[in-house]
Amino acid sequence: MKVTVVGAGAVGASCAEYIAIKNFASEVVILDIKEGFAEGKAMDLMQCASLNGFDTKITGVTNDYSQTANSDICVITSGIPRKPGMTREELIGINAGIVKNVSKSLLEHSPNMILIVVSNPMDTMTYLAHKSTGMPKNRIIGMGGALDSARFKYRLAEALGAPISDVDGMVVGGHSDTGMVPLTSHATRNSIKVSEFLSEERLAQVAEDTKVGGATLTKLLGTSAWYAPGAAVSGMVQAIACDTKKIFPCSTFLEGEYGLNDICIGVPVVLGKDGIEKIVDIPLSDAEKAHMKASAEGVAKTNGLLEL
Ligand code: 2OP
Repeated sequence: MKVTVVGAGAVGASCAEYIAIKNFASEVVILDIKEGFAEGKAMDLMQCASLNGFDTKITGVTNDYSQTANSDICVITSGIPRKPGMTREELIGINAGIVKNVSKSLLEHSPNMILIVVSNPMDTMTYLAHKSTGMPKNRIIGMGGALDSARFKYRLAEALGAPISDVDGMVVGGHSDTGMVPLTSHATRNSIKVSEFLSEERLAQVAEDTKVGGATLTKLLGTSAWYAPGAAVSGMVQAIACDTKKIFPCSTFLEGEYGLNDICIGVPVVLGKDGIEKIVDIPLSDAEKAHMKASAEGVAKTNGLLEL
């Protein structure tokens, strides 16, 4: 199992590290355009192999896509991260060109790859990859919901005073500060609806804190987060690599599902060896349906800024 991670920045390196530690991939190639940067990150990570007990071979290359050839899964983290006060959508001007070129370069050397897009604005970048590569829609996956759901569970556990291992919850919709849809009606604490423990007002606050989870960290860190994004995408890579059939909320191209067309946005999907193997239709409350519709309108508006 060969995995390529484009972008040796904090998110890409964290993703590579978590993949290596999980030890399911034989090889991880990290590619960056900055001379020597990916090589340095890969060497530093390989010097953790005896300490963290993995056999995964991590190599770094500077802008040489031939070294990514025949990758089973490719992850695009390259592009600029946001600064405090910025929205993810403001990154489109620079990141669109990067994602378009990187997607094509990867596809040239790995025609059968499954592509995971992390770069922001993620839903629009996933849509761009879909439109610019012409790859089957099951092989293009956007990572946002897995991260947002992790932040949702963090906030739920905080509000409940419960261990995170007892909490389950999912965020669908667009990966944006205003467009996320935390599914409070579905969230549970050890199979018990969280509404049995938390008031409507407290749950609404949990949802709001979840939606700005990325912006909250960007304000604290001065740049975008990286540990949880890296961990989220590594979990998706593992589900595909190990054909686990786990359900994740992922940005995927919709053709009528959830009443939406010609858009990539976060919905529950089954991930396995073929990438997105099934889009899972779940019941949404009227409020969740309305939020989903508004979220899609926001993503479509950002898509309109693309020069396809
Ligand atoms: C985040 O929410 C980088 O979009 C990513 O942290």
